[in-house]
Parts: sequence; structure tokens; C-alpha cells
Amino acid sequence: MAVCIAKLVVAVFSLLFLSTLLVSANSHTFARSLRPLELGLRKEKLSHLHFYFHDIVSGRNPTAVRVAEAQMTNSSATGFGAVVMIDDPLTEGPEMSSKEVGRAQGIYALASQEESSLLMVQNYVFTEGKYNGSTLSVLGRNSVFSGVRELPIVGGSGLFRFARGYAKAKTLTFDRKTGDTVVEYNVYVFHY
Ligand SMILES: *[C@@H]1O[C@H](CO)[C@@H](O)[C@H](O)[C@H]1NC(C)=O
Ligand SMILES: *[C@@H]1O[C@H](CO)[C@@H](O)[C@H](O)[C@H]1NC(C)=O
Repeated sequence: MAVCIAKLVVAVFSLLFLSTLLVSANSHTFARSLRPLELGLRKEKLSHLHFYFHDIVSGRNPTAVRVAEAQMTNSSATGFGAVVMIDDPLTEGPEMSSKEVGRAQGIYALASQEESSLLMVQNYVFTEGKYNGSTLSVLGRNSVFSGVRELPIVGGSGLFRFARGYAKAKTLTFDRKTGDTVVEYNVYVFHY
């Protein structure tokens, strides 16, 4: 009798062990659901960022350079087809000499045959204080001669993980001679 019970116990434990193996094999699935707290996500916050964007196309150290264009770009009234790579400073105040809080890195391209409208594909790379190293990703349409343009913020990294929101862009100065532009940005984002 005692032997029988012992055998039964061994059998039950073997089954349990086997099922653990099966479960752990299953945990290699590529997707699972988890609770936000497991990623340390507590409460969603809303932040407002305010900075000035300096698009410098002239001089010896431009921060915006044309990298591509179509054959017909020169004959297009709206510059359709031009692609510009930027690493534009973002500053706290409107003057170039004020404190740099980050850079806008990416591309804008002239994407309209009807007006001066840009496709904006950029990351704001912040360098200031606790935001140092965090980024926001922008993907939107920028009709540059409109008063205030709205661009979607489609994501972010670091402090801005799970970010979503929008940026309001307003041209502060546009130098017709050089093409240099300063744009005021107000960015509103939800993030954790
Ligand atoms: C367009 O014009 C610029 C400046 O005049 C010139 O450098 C460039 O080669 C032209 N591009 C084409 C595709 O004709
Ligand atoms: C931002 O982080 C980089 C890399 O960790 C560091 O070298 C730099 O000094 C930091 N800048 C500021 C303003 O804290």
C-alpha cells in the first residue's frame, strides 16, 4: 500500500513537472498582455513644451541642407520635390544665443504643387535637464505661410514613451534674403 502511494505521488509530481515544462515552452510566444504597472507606467501626464526652432539655410554653417530634388523642382512655383535634411537648434528663447534645449533632426520635403507646404518627418532630440536624451517624433503637414500650423506628435522615447499629441508652429521671423527662419513651437503631449 505504501509503495502504491509512493508511486502515485511520483506520478503526480512527474505530471506536474511535465506540465510546467509545457507551460514554460508556451511562454516563448511572441506576444502577451501585461499590466501597465509591470512597465512602471502609473499615471499619464500632459506636458506643454515651448521652444524656438532655427532653420538656418544660409552662411557657412547651415543647419538645413537640400539633399535631393526632382528635375522639375526648379520650374515648380512651390519647389515641389525638394528634400531638406535638418539638424536645427531648438532654443528656450527666440534668439539664437539663448539656451539650447534640443535639436530638430530629420527631413522636410516640399510636398505640394499648389502651395508652400512641407512634409515634416523629424525627431526633437532634447538635451535639457531631465529631458536630456528623450525624443519626440513628428510626422505632419506644414503649410509654411499659414499663421499657425498643427503637426501631430506620433510617438517618443525616454520620458516621452507612449507620447501622443500635437505641436503648434508659428513663424516668428523669415529673412527673405537668406531664407533663414525662426519658428515658435508650442507642443502638447500625453506621456507617462
Ligand atoms: C536647380 O537650380 C539650382 C540653382 O540654380 C542648381 O544648382 C540645380 O542644379 C538645379 N537643379 C536642376 C535639377 O536643374
Ligand atoms: C546629456 O546627456 C549626455 C549623455 O549622457 C551628457 O554627455 C550631457 O552632458 C548631458 N547634457 C546635459 C545638459 O545634461
